Amino acid sequence: MTSETQDNLLHEERVFPPSPEFAAQANAQPELYERAAADRLNFWAEQARDLVEWQTPFTETLDWSNPPFARWFGDGKLNVTYNCVDRHVEAGHGDRVAIHFEGEPGDTLSLTYRELQDQVSRAANVLQSLGVQTGDRVAVYLPMIPEAVIALLACARIGAPHSVVFGGFSAEALRSRIEDAEAKVVITADGGYRRGNPFALKPAVDEALAQGAESVKHVLTVRRTGQETAWTEGRDVWWSEALAAASDTHEPVWVDAEHPLFILYTSGTTGKPKGILHTTGGYLTQVTYSFKNVFDIKPETDVFWCTADVGWITGHSYVAYGPLSNGATQVLYEGTPDSPHRGRWWEIVQKYRVSILYTAPTAIRTFMKWGEEIPADFDLSSLRLLGSVGENINPEAWIWYRRVIGGDRCPIVDTWWQTETGSILISPLPGITGARPGSAQKPLPGVVASVFDDAGEHLESGSGYLVLDEPWPSMLRGIWGDPERFKETYWSRFPGVYFAGDGANLDHEGDIWLLGRVDDVMNVSGHRLSTAEIESALVSHPKVAEAAVVGAADATTGQIPVAFVIVRSEFAEEAAADGAALSEALRAHVGTEIGAIAKPKKVMLVAELPKTRSGKIMRRLLRDVAENRAVGDTQTLADSSVMDLITQGLKS
Ligand code: WT7
Repeated sequence: MTSETQDNLLHEERVFPPSPEFAAQANAQPELYERAAADRLNFWAEQARDLVEWQTPFTETLDWSNPPFARWFGDGKLNVTYNCVDRHVEAGHGDRVAIHFEGEPGDTLSLTYRELQDQVSRAANVLQSLGVQTGDRVAVYLPMIPEAVIALLACARIGAPHSVVFGGFSAEALRSRIEDAEAKVVITADGGYRRGNPFALKPAVDEALAQGAESVKHVLTVRRTGQETAWTEGRDVWWSEALAAASDTHEPVWVDAEHPLFILYTSGTTGKPKGILHTTGGYLTQVTYSFKNVFDIKPETDVFWCTADVGWITGHSYVAYGPLSNGATQVLYEGTPDSPHRGRWWEIVQKYRVSILYTAPTAIRTFMKWGEEIPADFDLSSLRLLGSVGENINPEAWIWYRRVIGGDRCPIVDTWWQTETGSILISPLPGITGARPGSAQKPLPGVVASVFDDAGEHLESGSGYLVLDEPWPSMLRGIWGDPERFKETYWSRFPGVYFAGDGANLDHEGDIWLLGRVDDVMNVSGHRLSTAEIESALVSHPKVAEAAVVGAADATTGQIPVAFVIVRSEFAEEAAADGAALSEALRAHVGTEIGAIAKPKKVMLVAELPKTRSGKIMRRLLRDVAENRAVGDTQTLADSSVMDLITQGLKS
């Protein structure tokens, strides 16, 4: 972020308090903060008892005797799927719609809680019949279809941790994640739909398994598009056939509160993605709690819509688990916002009378670009609350969201959290907080966050590093298979507290303003990408000697990767003759190694990279070039003529 945009953020002074009507009916009332502050651990114990059903009640709230390895509600037993499905059916809500599915080609399906219970029970029986036991990992590689939610719930029902791999990731990315988690089964589909056309998914699974991933015994395949699909007899199983043949009753497996619920890979500062581990009792407690209070859910009347894909943490916590644990009704949409037309989202809001919408700033900025006459054609009067997640929402986008989508009446919650935190930690509470555009404001009741200076001292106000001072129930329990990396990444920068990797400003009102990552992690359309990961993908290409990737500011996506590449000398002539073709080939290579979202916007072929005397690449200078700015201070470069060489080379 440039200092100019930072200033814009910090000078935003408008305050939008909730209307008295909203405040009066809100789930979260001011006493929630008071109760949490009075006795934090007791507060979490109460939330866990009130919001979750335990098969064996816990007696110990937190065991923090071996930090940073936390145990929450450690001697309790429960089942997440029982809490998300069965208990609502038992309470007489079996006929309530759990999921309104809106398929991309226009096909629709509404699943009640009873129907969900039927499907999930069958799927759980199928997984067990395929040899999946409690504790075994299951990889999930699916489009946004109801089976994605059913698959997650079926895994949780038998205590088999799932590892969801976003459908946009490549075969290679899928293989490395399956191998790291040693998954026994992959749940996938023949394909999905995007912008009116079918795309294939199963071939990527076949390729991943041909290249390795030997732990996989079965591939359970949903028939979504009906396209021609290669089939390995004995290994591959059709989802629909297997579910139809399975029993529709299944006894949930009661697991310990600290039993692993899922692994989700996310990018860090080094090349290899980290398998973030979440467990059962604490995660379910805090996801249920945050969904109830931040989104003010009234399960009987609200229709919630989170536009995130289940492949990301937002889809785990606020598509799969949070809404269902609260017994809510939600919309699940397979497609993109512009197909078959740019009013598609608003048509869906109108059709299902969506009352709470949760999306990312990048989408809001895209809608701003398309113009407000598009949403104006639809009836958005059902909306009563709006949410934002994934990156900073600039005040202009916030105000537009409030006025054009929210009709100037809906509170907006700007929610800060991460894959690692499991649930929303910093956010306004919609019936309480006077909202300030561009700030996530305050930690939720029960959460303790601070801004530290470089030396690890608490700042009363000013800019520094965001940390979480105390453990929280839905915190990550580690990095799969790598406890040292867990300690090193999050707990070593400031001993004893969790370092989030974000810069933050604390203002005089005690509000937190996020300032973006302080490490080499990019935020592209609200998705986290690591420069190192894209660099290692580029360097794995036989024609590349060295590569540096930076995140350049982009008006719509927030940031976008731009690569600087030194070609191996044998290929220098080829690069000089047709640089455009080589750049394109390298972009495609990143697509194959990681996935389309990681493809650099530009690959610039350069003769040198700017380095300090100790050999560190000075990305700051490359960012200047990528953002078309005058190149900053080059004094610390080992060879200060390098930047001239780069800028001249790119001009010619
Ligand atoms: C990073 C986490 C958690 C859901 C999606 C992303 C950035 C997230 C906000 C916000 C400013 C935000 C941070 C964070 N971020 N929400 N409301 N305001 N920045 O999950 O991929 O784990 O990325 O997203 O930089 O560290 P993720």
